[in-house]
Amino acid sequence: MDLLLDKTPPMSWTLAIQIIFATLTSIILHRRLLHPLSPIPGPTLASISRLWHIRHILKGDQNTQLISLHKKHGHFVRLAHNEVSVSHPDAIKKILGNSHLRKGPWYRMTAIPDYRFQSPMATTDPKKKMGKSKAFASGYALTNVLRSEPQVDNVISLLLSHLDRFSQTGEQVNLDKYFTFTSFDVAGEILFSSQFGFLKTGTDIGNAIANGYWLSMYASAMAFYYYFHVALLGNLVVTWLNILPYGHLFETTIKAMKTRLRDKRDDESRFDSVGCWFRAMEKDPERIKWRDVQAVTVSTVGAASETVSCALQSFVYYMIRTPGVWGRARGEVLELQGREGGGEGRVVSWGQAKRLVYLQACIKEGLRMFAPVAMNLPRVVGPEGLEIGGRRFGMGTILSVNSWVMHFSEEIWGKDAGEFKLIFCFLHIDIHSKYTPDNFLGSI
Ligand code: HEM
Repeated sequence: MDLLLDKTPPMSWTLAIQIIFATLTSIILHRRLLHPLSPIPGPTLASISRLWHIRHILKGDQNTQLISLHKKHGHFVRLAHNEVSVSHPDAIKKILGNSHLRKGPWYRMTAIPDYRFQSPMATTDPKKKMGKSKAFASGYALTNVLRSEPQVDNVISLLLSHLDRFSQTGEQVNLDKYFTFTSFDVAGEILFSSQFGFLKTGTDIGNAIANGYWLSMYASAMAFYYYFHVALLGNLVVTWLNILPYGHLFETTIKAMKTRLRDKRDDESRFDSVGCWFRAMEKDPERIKWRDVQAVTVSTVGAASETVSCALQSFVYYMIRTPGVWGRARGEVLELQGREGGGEGRVVSWGQAKRLVYLQACIKEGLRMFAPVAMNLPRVVGPEGLEIGGRRFGMGTILSVNSWVMHFSEEIWGKDAGEFKLIFCFLHIDIHSKYTPDNFLGSI
């Protein structure tokens, strides 16, 4: 009877709790005080775990938090126990431009629907990644993408007809929604000559875009616990059972690809990305398999859509908010169309758009002000170590760069880095264009 009433945990439990407590304490103390990254400043929670970063990914403010932290601490901020965010101007060249560095383990998460679907984006080994990227390069080549220009123009015309309708009825419009519809439908046309139908129906079919928000949250955070994700969802059993609610985007992509493969014929008029990749698959079936093409197509739908929608939203937002800019860019379009013709269609051709220097500068300044990718881009330091900004980092350290931090760096852009300013545009302009900083600045 006494034994039954005894609430003291058995000896083995007490010991287990003590061991767990001692292990955790030593991990925390090591990361905080003895780790090679201990001298790097940053939030306390970040110095002992990934939890600070995940908390701000989920809150949606990691970019602004990092801007403030870099302002306070300088070029190096400890973002997690094993990762340093770098804002030194050499970071782009030495970290992102260094093709020998392994990409951070975070990218493995972009293998969809499971770990077997290795796109170049999901491949972290630099040699393997380079090989894969080369195999798929033709599908992204500008000359090939431009073959879909008439279809892309049709999608943009569809967007304009929606906007005309809203302006006639005076109905309020969520521009973000329509820009996202447009970017997905454009991606569908370029990748596999088929639209998702968002613009045609004027709806978020099957809530695919809305669900994407939750999916991105899950992916961004779970990517740091990749093996847990594989055990939970990203495995072949779950793929085989087909129980995940991937929804309209995934289904439309796979259906369009299967139809294309079934009706395979040498039809040059459908020279889209998937067409290029099927041709590469036929040429080298050992190296490029159906699963690879599926992995690349699905990941490109994601990579190409939200980013472009975000860029469009930022562009229009700043064009409207900055006095005189919209009228000036419009004037430039009309002037070129008047000079060269082509004014009968409302959609400017790509060939003309790239020569609209003022408009190009506005687009790039819009991208600077609201970079579509808010996550840090992580790379792993190799055995030879890496020196940047007078500091040396050892093998295995994750160094990452955040576009927002770089875009708002006063060291790079000056004191007014936080303002939409076309004075910055000459820094964006293609160095091969006829404009030099002097004559461009004179023209604005
Ligand atoms: C304004 C628009 C865009 C922005 C800001 C943007 C930005 C980015 C960034 C930051 C990355 C990660 C690079 C890295 O981790 O080192 C990336 C990767 C990628 N993007 Fe974009 N992107 C845009 C549009 C597009 C479009 C239109 C496509 C396809 C047609 C595309 C396809 C890809 C692919 C395939 C990757 C993975 C590359 C790899 O790791 O091999 N992106 N993009």
